[in-house]
Amino acid sequence: MEVERKTSEERADALEEAMMKDLDKPGVRRGTGLLFGGLTPGGVPLALGALAAMPSQPTVVDFFKLRFMPHTVNHMLQSANDAQKKGEPEETVLACLLHDIAVNLIKVDHGWWAAQMVEPYVSEKVSWAIRHHQALRFFPDPSVGYAYPERYVQIFGEGYVPEPYIKAAYEKARKHKWYMEARMITVHDLYAFEPGVNPTLEPFIDVIGRHFKQPKEGLGFDGSPVAHMWRSLIYPDNPL
Ligand SMILES: [Fe+2]
Ligand SMILES: [Fe+2]
Repeated sequence: MEVERKTSEERADALEEAMMKDLDKPGVRRGTGLLFGGLTPGGVPLALGALAAMPSQPTVVDFFKLRFMPHTVNHMLQSANDAQKKGEPEETVLACLLHDIAVNLIKVDHGWWAAQMVEPYVSEKVSWAIRHHQALRFFPDPSVGYAYPERYVQIFGEGYVPEPYIKAAYEKARKHKWYMEARMITVHDLYAFEPGVNPTLEPFIDVIGRHFKQPKEGLGFDGSPVAHMWRSLIYPDNPL
């Protein structure tokens, strides 16, 4: 028992150390993104800088340009670019383009959150794939050349075992008819950024137009069950 406990403590320490490296930026807190990020440990809002005004009927493209954090945008563009270059179907390209949007709002369970944010606007297959990429990324699939990411050893620590609910989600997804849809997100999820590759959003505008049902009232104002999530990104500094 004693040995086991020490091992998990060591793992937690390794994780802590890796995560601390990300915590030296102001406004960044463990487990949460922009929404809950703007507070000091004492609960005082940090000055995060003025946000650009959003159009009254914002599109998902507006969120890419005016709200999503530049490093997450670059990461999702690199994933979508990789998928497109390798000839994936447009819905897979779209799934790659959107797969991590939730980290702009909240980090923990980002696959589930991202899937929910886009669920009213994309096909069931795309949101299913986004939801499950979170669990699948911890489990290799040699049939498509997906290995456990080296970066996760740094982030999660050596010998990290995902939570039981993650393993359960993976096992269920493994048997699902859309398994490969989610798996391909992990295949194109690039952990080591290619230097000098900074794709723009422009090549994906048509893909978004064909597969993302933009509400005419604008994201955040269409009365959908997830409108508040988009509004939280529009107005992250509003009290209560
Ligand atoms: Fe992800
Ligand atoms: Fe990702």
